[in-house]
Amino acid sequence: MKASFSEKEINPLHSIEQWEDDVLLRYPEANTKAKEEFRNYEDPARDTVKEFYRLNHTHQSYDFVMEKKNEFLQFNRKEMPVWNAMEYLNTLVDDSDPDIELDQLQHLLQTGEAIRRDGHPDWFVLTGFIHDMGKVLCLFGEPQWAVVGDTFPVGCKFSDKVVYPEYFAFNSDVSNEQYNTKYGIYSHGCGLRNVNMSWGHDEYLYQITKDYLPEPALYMIRYHSFYAQHRENAYDHLLDDHDREMFEWVKKFNPYDLYSKNPLPPNVKELKPYYEELIAKYLPAAVKL
Ligand SMILES: [Fe+2]
Ligand SMILES: [Fe+2]
Repeated sequence: MKASFSEKEINPLHSIEQWEDDVLLRYPEANTKAKEEFRNYEDPARDTVKEFYRLNHTHQSYDFVMEKKNEFLQFNRKEMPVWNAMEYLNTLVDDSDPDIELDQLQHLLQTGEAIRRDGHPDWFVLTGFIHDMGKVLCLFGEPQWAVVGDTFPVGCKFSDKVVYPEYFAFNSDVSNEQYNTKYGIYSHGCGLRNVNMSWGHDEYLYQITKDYLPEPALYMIRYHSFYAQHRENAYDHLLDDHDREMFEWVKKFNPYDLYSKNPLPPNVKELKPYYEELIAKYLPAAVKL
């Protein structure tokens, strides 16, 4: 006997795309084709990116990181409302990122909006929106390789799982026996709070927001460029239980950072009131940079 089905049973989805959208939401990393296109560092056209990492890996030594912390963690440069700081970013072109064409504010709004669409808590949306605000470092005359790019621990051996590890051969720390062993100045399971990361917009914004946002948000901000850990688990030996718990959030955040870029520019004017409200809920009226 032939079963008969209603239209709703035959076409339960609005369209077959709805299924694909859902697969993508559940398994964003299964979007491997996009992933390869997005982060195709082997393309010969990426010579500027390689040069960027050569400089980054050469100069991000332990002493360099200490110098930058002394220099920038005084926050004596500027004071401005968060929204203005976000607008201030828009003269930047991020040369560690092969695929972004929209300006920073647009990318950040898209990140926030993608998180909001998935029904995450408002502090997560806010984190998506501000996560790259630390790139204002570029506007203080900082070299791009000291602002953006993958981050990694300094003070211990550089992992081969960091992008372009061959360039670490030029870093002075590889010949310093204090720093060139597996643990270097750290110890097993010491926790990332005790580990110095290469300097850039992640650590800088973490230091700006650390008193205001929930702990998972702070981990997302501080470690979102630490691909060697959140994608490759290359530094498991330094993590403690708290890090492992919090890295679930870092991993949850990463697809929004990578895959929320869309050629369709968001409507900045329309979205501004919502984000201004979020900023006012969690952050001070002005931030010190
Ligand atoms: Fe970033
Ligand atoms: Fe980003």
